[in-house]
Amino acid sequence: MKIRNAGVVGAGLMGSGVAQVCAQAGLQVILMDIEPSALEKAQEQIAWSVGKFAEKGKINEDREVVLARITATSELQALKDADIIIENVYEDIDLKREVFKTLSGVTGEETLLASDTSAIPITELAAVSRYPERVLGLHFFSPAQMMRVVEVIGSTLTSPETMAVATAFIKAIGKDPIRVERDVAGFLLNRINFPSTVEAIRLVEEGISTVEDVDRGMRLAFGRKMGPFETGDMVGLDVMMKAMMSTYEETKDMKFYPPVLMQRKVLAGHLGIKTRKGWYDYNEDGSRKG
Ligand SMILES: NC(=O)c1ccc[n+]([C@@H]2O[C@H](COP(=O)([O-])OP(=O)(O)OC[C@H]3O[C@@H](n4cnc5c(N)ncnc54)[C@H](O)[C@@H]3O)[C@@H](O)[C@H]2O)c1
Repeated sequence: MKIRNAGVVGAGLMGSGVAQVCAQAGLQVILMDIEPSALEKAQEQIAWSVGKFAEKGKINEDREVVLARITATSELQALKDADIIIENVYEDIDLKREVFKTLSGVTGEETLLASDTSAIPITELAAVSRYPERVLGLHFFSPAQMMRVVEVIGSTLTSPETMAVATAFIKAIGKDPIRVERDVAGFLLNRINFPSTVEAIRLVEEGISTVEDVDRGMRLAFGRKMGPFETGDMVGLDVMMKAMMSTYEETKDMKFYPPVLMQRKVLAGHLGIKTRKGWYDYNEDGSRKG
């Protein structure tokens, strides 16, 4: 089975990026969100970003050609003929279950249903789907337009054919698949990343260092492009905290448990770049203050 068109559910940070990646790879894309304002914002963001790719000569097509492949809609029904659907709604297990249940009633037997969840076990979503063997995880990293890695996660119920088709699809859209062989909360890369982020927050909480110094040190020492706090602000502290919680709930291991400092920031609505305040402060255009 070859994937020719894709549906993307949820047009926020990740959904808009995933839609753009698929369109740049030549696929027809239907981008669905229940919020018309989210669709509008996504279209603006995608147009700007594709323009940048074209300006830098990173794509061989005109911006307009790429943009014409994306259709925005608020109707889930519009996804009925998609070869693959990649779900990117909020990191909320009940919402995702609901979306998967509804999608199962809309799509055919052949459609692959993928979730871009950061941590929720895929079997949770397969279990409520009509064709669980076609359900899997495709975990992109932010910003999806730039980051090459995508985790490909099978649930306990995913068929080997689904894994093979999805892995080929990820390569076809120019990404590098990492297969995760067992369906565990947090999958592979966040299982490694979260404990170090938790430790970084604790060290700041205890007054042993500062947000700025931890980030600078991590960049300089380990060749990372961003430190853990910079990454947190880009991902969204709410999104990261929920993903840490899902991983903690399954493992009961405190190394995944979001420290109080992070919990309070989320309560205060200081979620990172999207709210202009997180570990750092940001200007309207998303650039860092100071
Ligand atoms: N933020 C990251 O860096 C990152 C990285 C990898 C994976 N993820 C995962 O991707 C998913 C989305 O995260 P995000 O940061 O893009 O969130 P976001 O808040 O930017 O976007 C979520 C979108 O989902 C829409 N939505 C909500 N309910 C819906 C429904 N029933 N039908 C259609 N659309 C609906 C919202 O209107 C919103 O536009 C989450 O599961 C998250 O864990 C996030």
